[in-house]
Amino acid sequence: AIHPVILCGGSGTRLWPLSRQSYPKQFARLISDDSLFQASARRCNGEGFSAPTIVTGDAFRFIVTEQLAAIEMAPNAIVIEPEGRNTAPAVLAAALLLAAQDADALMLVAPSDHVIADDAAFRAAVRAAAPAAQAGQLVTFGIHPTGPETGYGYLQLAPGSSAGAQEPQALAAFVEKPDLHRAEAMVADGQHLWNAGIFLMSIRTIVAAFETYAPEVLSPVAAAVAAATPDLGFTRLGPEPWTEVPDISIDYAIMEKAENLTVMPYSGGWSDLGGWNAVHQETGPDADGNVCTGEATAIDCSGTLLRSESESLELVGIGLEDMIAVAMPDAVLVAKRAESQRVKEAVAALKARG
Ligand code: GDD
Ligand code: MG
Repeated sequence: AIHPVILCGGSGTRLWPLSRQSYPKQFARLISDDSLFQASARRCNGEGFSAPTIVTGDAFRFIVTEQLAAIEMAPNAIVIEPEGRNTAPAVLAAALLLAAQDADALMLVAPSDHVIADDAAFRAAVRAAAPAAQAGQLVTFGIHPTGPETGYGYLQLAPGSSAGAQEPQALAAFVEKPDLHRAEAMVADGQHLWNAGIFLMSIRTIVAAFETYAPEVLSPVAAAVAAATPDLGFTRLGPEPWTEVPDISIDYAIMEKAENLTVMPYSGGWSDLGGWNAVHQETGPDADGNVCTGEATAIDCSGTLLRSESESLELVGIGLEDMIAVAMPDAVLVAKRAESQRVKEAVAALKARG
C-alpha cells in the first residue's frame, strides 16, 4: 500500500487575514465545504492507499483531529513536531516512523494546502508513478508552467524526456526557487515543469537519500524519532534532539542534490493558492468576474473578490474593478487584485508594530 504523509505545519502568510499563524490556510474552507487539509486527506484515500500520517505542530493538533473526525477519517498517526523546521525534517520523521511498520512500502508526501480538482485523476497519476518509485526513484509531479514564477521548484527534463508524456520521465536536474532571470529561461525552453511539491518514493529510498545528502538532518531527526512518545493518540517527537534539527526544505536538502529523480507530468489542474488572486481564479468567478463568499454583495463590480468570514459582518462593494476585500472579525484587507501578492508586506508590517 501507499502511505500518504500529509505536511500540515506551514503558515501561508499570503492569504492574510484569513490565514493566521494560529489558524493557517490549510484549515480554512477556502474553496469548498472541506478545508484544504480535509480535501488533501480525502484525495489520498481509496484503493491502494493506507490511512494517512499527518505531520503538524503542537498548536494545530486538535484542529487536525477535529477536521479528520468531521470527514470520518482515522489517521495512521498524527506526528507532532516540537517546532516547525521546514519540510525535510517533517518528511524524514514520518519516513523513519513508517519504516518501523514497513520499510519497503511507498510514501506519498503531500502538502495540505493545495487545490487539485480531480482527485481520481490525481490518484491515477500516483498509481502510474508507483513502479518508478518501487524501482528506487524519487518521483516528483510536474505541472506545465504558465509563467516565470519564482516561488516554485523547476524540474529539468532529461534529454529525450517529454513534458507532454502521460508516464514517468527521467529528470536531469531540480532547481528550487530560481531568480526571475533563470525562471524566464526555464519556462522559455519548454524542457521544464513546475514541481508540485508532491513526492512518491519508497521509505528505503528517501532514508538512503538523507544518509547520502543530509546526514546532518538525519542524525538529530533519528534521535527525535527514537525519543518519540505516545500522547493521547499523538506521536510526540523528542524535544531535546529536535533542538539540533536544521531548518531546511526537502527541495534544498534532497531534491536539488539527488540523481535518481523522475517526474510524473500532471495536467489535471493544480493550484497552490499562493495568494488571493489564485483564490479568486480557483473559486470560479461569476459572469462579471466576481467572487462573493459569506455575507458579501457586489453591486456594479467586476473582477472583484469580496469575502466576509463572519455572519455579523455585511460586506458590500460598489463600482469596484479588480479588487480584493476580505473581512474577518478582527481584521480587514482591501487591495488591488493585481497587487495581492504584497499581502505578506502587511503581515510583516503588523509584526513589526507588535
Ligand atoms: N509539518 C510541517 N512542518 N509541515 C510544513 C512545515 C513544517 O515545518 N513547513 C511547511 N510545511 C507544509 C506546508 O503546510 C505545505 O503544505 C507544505 O509543507 C509545503 O511547504 P511550503 O512552505 O508551502 O513550500 P513552498 O510552497 O515554499 O515550496 C514547495 O512547494 C512548491 C509548490 O507549491 C516546494 O516543494 C516547491 O519546489 C514547489 O514548487
Ligand atoms: Mg506552498
